[in-house]
Amino acid sequence: MKNEDSENSSSTNNYQKHWDTAYSQTPNEKLGWYEDDHSPTFQLLDETTITSHSNILIAGAGSTTLVDALLAKGFSQLIATDISEVSLQKLEDRVGIGKIEIIVDDLSHPNKLSQIASVDIWVDRAVLHFLTESTDQTTYFDLLKSKLKKGGYALFAEFGLGGATKCCGLPIQQYENDQFQSQLGNEFELVSSFNHTYHNPNGDSRKYIYSLFKRI
Ligand SMILES: C[S@@+](CC[C@H](N)C(=O)[O-])C[C@H]1O[C@@H](n2cnc3c(N)ncnc32)[C@H](O)[C@@H]1O
Repeated sequence: MKNEDSENSSSTNNYQKHWDTAYSQTPNEKLGWYEDDHSPTFQLLDETTITSHSNILIAGAGSTTLVDALLAKGFSQLIATDISEVSLQKLEDRVGIGKIEIIVDDLSHPNKLSQIASVDIWVDRAVLHFLTESTDQTTYFDLLKSKLKKGGYALFAEFGLGGATKCCGLPIQQYENDQFQSQLGNEFELVSSFNHTYHNPNGDSRKYIYSLFKRI
């Protein structure tokens, strides 16, 4: 008979294989979520009080070039975490060993992430929307709240209402601000939000919502 732990670890393994395969088979700049223009994220970062010494956690980082852009702007305390070891290896190979902290973990069944020190900002582009089970969403937000300092920020870029319903062959949950707010609770206030249309490498457009919350 399966126990809960073995079910959790087999679901983590399945998703890990899925994402490792995606990153192994496709060059970075051909991935369906690749972007080299991070101006929507920087538009929100400009509304924060973070400094170059702030601890920035990039959730579901994959091999994002946001890391390169942050390093180029002088941000030095970066943690990139993802379920896919392959993606983080690609990221580390590109930016250089020791430039950032790398953590392979599942945001819906966190293990190593539960042990890290608290951070000043949590940045998530396009990972939360893959957590479609309410228990996984609760785990994700519990982790975020347990790791974010008072006065810290949560920055989300997720698929918005009326847009795509799948990505990388997986179903997604579409977001609007009320859903972020109800998961975050009254301790968080919305600082800024806007809709953004992203054009992927195939030329398809995807509706995103970008939102910045501050922990009061
Ligand atoms: C659409 S990609 C976005 C990657 C990156 N944020 C970017 O903007 O390029 C989604 C990422 O979430 C990661 N991911 C999916 N489910 C995850 C989970 N449960 N825990 C941690 N990472 C996960 C995938 O491996 C993938 O790198």
